[in-house]
Amino acid sequence: MVTEKIILQNPERFAGEYTISKEKLTGAIEKAADKLESQIPRFKEAFAATCSVNYKYPKTVNNNWICGMHTGTFLLAYELTGNKKFREVVESHLPTYKQRLDKKIAMEDHDVGFVFSPSCVAAYKALGDENARQVALDAAEHLYNFSYSKKGGFILRVASQQHKPEYCRTMMDTLMNAPLLFWAGQEAGRQEYIDAAMSQNKITEQYLIREDASSNHHYQFELETHKPLHGVTWQGFSDDSCWSRGHAWGVYGFPIAYSYSKEPYLVDVHKDITYYMLNHLPADLIPYWDLVFVDGDQPRDSSAGVVSVCGMDEMCKYLPDDAPQKQIFQNASARMLEAVIDNCTGDIGREYDGLICHVTAALPQRQGIDECAIYGDYFYLEALCRMVKPDWKRYW
Ligand code: GLY
Repeated sequence: MVTEKIILQNPERFAGEYTISKEKLTGAIEKAADKLESQIPRFKEAFAATCSVNYKYPKTVNNNWICGMHTGTFLLAYELTGNKKFREVVESHLPTYKQRLDKKIAMEDHDVGFVFSPSCVAAYKALGDENARQVALDAAEHLYNFSYSKKGGFILRVASQQHKPEYCRTMMDTLMNAPLLFWAGQEAGRQEYIDAAMSQNKITEQYLIREDASSNHHYQFELETHKPLHGVTWQGFSDDSCWSRGHAWGVYGFPIAYSYSKEPYLVDVHKDITYYMLNHLPADLIPYWDLVFVDGDQPRDSSAGVVSVCGMDEMCKYLPDDAPQKQIFQNASARMLEAVIDNCTGDIGREYDGLICHVTAALPQRQGIDECAIYGDYFYLEALCRMVKPDWKRYW
């Protein structure tokens, strides 16, 4: 929980109005759409793996946490261009979500919200697909029954060999699983889902966000009693550092919870953690993979940048015009997105599958270091969509 007064260092860096030129935004969308269209033969009825290997996306089936964002990328491209070929890819993906749920393929997972929000909830919201709505409601029920601990009031990270079995954990990422519970709770009148999603946010604010507004990646609780123990990392540099993408999940997750609840503490914690992110950006505004680094040769994680852009833009929808952070977020989100367009979509001397490069998936696990990943692509396109279509209906 934040206890220090968090101020934006160098406020002049993000002062005043700033907009990306229309030509640059249009050019970025055209370039992304062209690349995505060239991938249709590979990914119609198929999915990319969690991250690229030598800049190429291995092909797989609907069996991992990023699949929903792969479908969502094509849906965003359809919404942005009207090109029916993108919609056909979405329609080729959708039946696999029901199969995944029915056959329980990789469903013992805390990331069920990541899978079903930008795919099935999105297909319902953007295309009016009633089957997708039902699959998303069923997935929310599964997430609640399988992963939510009533005793702890949080979504449990699925047990694995990665931590000692006497502990259980929840994590920053799960703020992006909560939206499935919020949506389904409202859609199906299930108050217990909304209470669970609110509790996930509260626990995150209490235990995962530190006094200085940095974040633990995971937080560990005693298995039997769920007594809070201490923060730990999984994908970050160290237990007391701040993993960039985990932090970015908070920059986007808290505003979504605010949109449903209007709880004032969410605005405060969001301002503090976003200032922490902005205070730890390097000169070119592309976050390093962990916010402990602010210069040098460490790999970047551009996905943390574009997730944060979406989160700042989302919060601006609810902030009054005189909120001091509003203009800062508007300025910073435009600059950070422009930085990704300028530094992460150009020539790197070889072909790459992603819409953006310089994404780091999981450095300590030696996975996807300075590569591409579907969540980078998805949130890049969502960020572009937010800039050109202010009335776009959020998938989360
Ligand atoms: N949810 C895991 C990640 O952001 O890599």
